[in-house]
Amino acid sequence: MTSLPHSTVLIIDFGAQYAHLIARRVRECHVYSEIVSSSITIDELEARKPNAIILSGGPSSVHEKGAPTCDPRLFDLGIPVLGICYGAQLMAIQLGGTVEETGKREYGKTNLSVSNEGVLFEGLPVEQEVWMSHRDSITKPPPGFTVTSFTEGSPVASMESPRRKLYAVQFHPEVVHTPHGTDILKNFLYRACDILPDWTPTSIIEETIEEIRNRVGKEKVICGLSGGVDSSTAAVLVHKAVGDRLTCVFLDHGLLRGGEAEEVIDTFGRHFKMNLIHRDVSERFLKKLKGVTDPEQKRSIVGGEFIRVFEEVASSLKGVRFFVQGTLYPDVIESGTGEASRIKSHHNVGGLPETMDFELVEPLKFLFKDEVRLMAMELGLPEEIVWRQPFPGPGLAVRIIGEVTEERLKILREADAIVNDEIKKAGMYKEIWQSFAVLPCIKSVGVMGDGRTYSYPIIIRAVTSEDAMTADWVRLPFGVLERIASRITSEVEGVNRVAYDISTKPPATIEWE
Ligand code: XMP
Repeated sequence: MTSLPHSTVLIIDFGAQYAHLIARRVRECHVYSEIVSSSITIDELEARKPNAIILSGGPSSVHEKGAPTCDPRLFDLGIPVLGICYGAQLMAIQLGGTVEETGKREYGKTNLSVSNEGVLFEGLPVEQEVWMSHRDSITKPPPGFTVTSFTEGSPVASMESPRRKLYAVQFHPEVVHTPHGTDILKNFLYRACDILPDWTPTSIIEETIEEIRNRVGKEKVICGLSGGVDSSTAAVLVHKAVGDRLTCVFLDHGLLRGGEAEEVIDTFGRHFKMNLIHRDVSERFLKKLKGVTDPEQKRSIVGGEFIRVFEEVASSLKGVRFFVQGTLYPDVIESGTGEASRIKSHHNVGGLPETMDFELVEPLKFLFKDEVRLMAMELGLPEEIVWRQPFPGPGLAVRIIGEVTEERLKILREADAIVNDEIKKAGMYKEIWQSFAVLPCIKSVGVMGDGRTYSYPIIIRAVTSEDAMTADWVRLPFGVLERIASRITSEVEGVNRVAYDISTKPPATIEWE
């Protein structure tokens, strides 16, 4: 992404817990941003020709021995810099200001008074709430800086030197608890840096296609298609770039949701006219899973078998050099910003073995999920795929507690379809991270008509999440729960009871296995 024509903001990561949030917010302002390690040298930084630099927060004190730092020449490159929290303190101390532990720590929501709107607060209220999280405070700005705001505990809550294009805020504009945070970032990007908001779905698509074309040349490419938004978008982009030299492989392991396989085949085979190899290997998987109840064993059977089938298909396609993978930016960030892309390329080929000797094409590896969805819409992917919720690789096998059988798959598919049909009707599907049904391996007594029943319950799970690392259960309206419960018990044979899972992650996980 380095040589592309759009503006670029580089975020130097000093160990901030939420550096990715800064990247997200900048992207939401339609400006491309990338996180880089604080070990980046001044030459490497200059070579990237960023339009602006943001110094992130971090857990250290600038006075600590071994605390991460930056080359002070950074401030003389003529590139606008915004320091946030630790980044602000680093700027202050390196340019001759004072940072001290005053004993007035600030954590959480804090009232900020703007004393001079300067560039960052142009057009914004003089009194506003901001999110603080700091021990040390800037007590004196460096020469040439104007203090633009203060709080009870921070005499310098923000400062700027427009002449040198240097800006700093002690608070966190990237978190939602700073209501005007995005406006402040916009003022920095558009007013202080004169950056144009040129990071749009159309520009991303054009640039990505061009990049794939240059990379792949005349070679053949293979793509494992799951029907999720990531692999689907990656496939469409590669198809636009290299056309028939792409072959998509869709393996139906029989653990998909109702109608999912048909939709993928229809969309890609008919609608997008791609080379699509579809293998229905459900019987093979079900045979392997027969009698297996241990969750880890199920996962390893599905994962292992998937690899074997994929290898068989791949080896029948001669001369394939590239493999497309829908890796997203959070996966890359999670592996660490320094060597991230290299680590991913070598060790995480979507669960496929390293011996498969393909070079990776990861067209989404600098994108967040919401950006992928915008792109997918622009590319004309059907709504059902664009908004499809994440789905685990082992599929329904980890949502059926106990043995996976045809009969139990049928029950779960029908119940799952009802859960999501009602959630869609309530207009809540897009705001929910994942919603699904789980089939436990217990039965309970019920009554139907005049007769006793002894059948399975269905558990409904619906969670909100930013990144699946943590999750909260959705406060579904009682009316929606009522309709789901009543439809499941009357329409799905073999179910007489419905429960709603109100566990958060942690301590629970999103999936049941
Ligand atoms: P848990 O259950 O650990 O899940 O809270 C976190 C997220 O990961 C998904 N998940 C998987 N995705 N292969 C996948 O591709 C898997 O084996 C797998 N297991 C869990 C899960 O649906 C949730 O979004």
